[in-house]
Amino acid sequence: MSVKLQTKRIKAKKDLKTSSKKFYIESYGCQMNFADSEVVASIISKEGYDSTRNLNDADLILLNTCSIREKAETTVRKRLESFNKLKRSNKHLKVGVLGCMAERLKSKFLEEEKIVDLVVGPDAYKDIPNLLEEINEGRNAVNVILSKEETYGDINPVRLSSNGVTAFVSITRGCDNMCTFCVVPFTRGRERSRDPKSILEEIQNLKDSNYKEITLLGQNVDSYLWYGGGLKKDFKKASSLQKKTSIDFAKLLKLVGEAFPEIRIRFSTSNPQDMNLDVIKTMASYANICNYIHLPVQSGSNSVLKEMNRQHTRKEYLELIKQIKNLIPNCGISHDMITGFPNETDEDHNQTLSLMKEVKYDFGYMFKYSERPGTFAAKKFEDNVDEEVKKVRLQEIIDLQQSHSKFRTKQYIGKTVEVLIEKESKKSNSHWAGRNEQNTVVVFPKKSHKIGDFVNVKINDCTSATLIGESID
Ligand code: SAH
Ligand code: F3S
Repeated sequence: MSVKLQTKRIKAKKDLKTSSKKFYIESYGCQMNFADSEVVASIISKEGYDSTRNLNDADLILLNTCSIREKAETTVRKRLESFNKLKRSNKHLKVGVLGCMAERLKSKFLEEEKIVDLVVGPDAYKDIPNLLEEINEGRNAVNVILSKEETYGDINPVRLSSNGVTAFVSITRGCDNMCTFCVVPFTRGRERSRDPKSILEEIQNLKDSNYKEITLLGQNVDSYLWYGGGLKKDFKKASSLQKKTSIDFAKLLKLVGEAFPEIRIRFSTSNPQDMNLDVIKTMASYANICNYIHLPVQSGSNSVLKEMNRQHTRKEYLELIKQIKNLIPNCGISHDMITGFPNETDEDHNQTLSLMKEVKYDFGYMFKYSERPGTFAAKKFEDNVDEEVKKVRLQEIIDLQQSHSKFRTKQYIGKTVEVLIEKESKKSNSHWAGRNEQNTVVVFPKKSHKIGDFVNVKINDCTSATLIGESID
């Protein structure tokens, strides 16, 4: 075949691929899922699919799902149900589920939800091109194999519905912690870290596209450890050279902080047992690393922490908070808290309230315990805190948090904070919205600035969740 003809054929194939197919993707749950959807979008785009925000245009609908609480799963099932009508009117429409529910339920998903054609777990996204071929030939397809190496470091994510200013960059996958309530170690597999070179490259790409803030993502960023690839748990088997040249989270932060002085750097989530002085010192010494730490604690009671298999006591956690505040006095701190864990007594609950009073978090995410099938807690403990009691306790911690949030936001009144403008305020199109480095939302009247600008804003009012001010430059 002549080169010309060959080129023509390739082009024709490409045209066919790109001619009509569209995918629609929706993400649920943690930031990692949103980041993963951008990896999936990149993989699917190479197969000739264009992304669409309109369900009715889609040939392929994908839901990137969450299993963390029962409610998250119910939401996904309801959403799937809502696609029935679409599927009846478009016989070629395919529906796929990705993420944690896919991993947890595996091929059972196909039996339980007849609408589903495709099930792909968090480590199998590179197999999507093959799986698409299967479903387009009329067969269902499943791949839920968990990996020891996969970090998607070689994939340049397609930024979906991005504000063009802030982006997630994943640095680890999986979790080895085995908190007894948590389904993540089962759905996302063992912990592994991504090559720092590919992390720096991704940030460089973002910088070249004018992004101004990145968030390094992992279930437990503080336990990041690069020694050439492979599972964290196998580090002990690494060679002495690998050990000597390994890069931990503090080193990675330093690398990123130094390489991109004009980019704001955030990270999430920190785990109290792995966060160390090196990380805090690194934060303190780089102005572009935001003074904000999301530091889930889950409970203020030692006995509950023990049953949760958290590797820290209340005292150790408070000690860590003290170290943070000593080195970074203006550090914003937020938490995750679970209420109504099995056997949680009133006294345990009071311990949670008292820990919150000691820390006075800037904000927090609070949840009722939800038993997850297959976890240690589901197997060994009875979900025995009455639903009503869970509800009352949850409301108490939410109310307390709200008063602390208000206490924290009030401290900003009269002060000037630097804000990165991310979007128009939801409540008023004459106001910008962004965040200060402590991750608190700031709104202020628009002047001549634009999205992506850093502006100094003098705070003159607040609610418990928002600072209200005026730009001074
Ligand atoms: N390290 C992770 C934690 C993931 S889960 C991260 O990157 O954020 C997020 C939060 O959900 C947990 O911190 C915990 O507070 C909550 N959670 C996890 N399992 C839960 C369960 N079974 N019931 C209620 N809340 C849960
Ligand atoms: Fe879950 Fe604990 Fe890991 S909450 S994600 S097992 S740190």
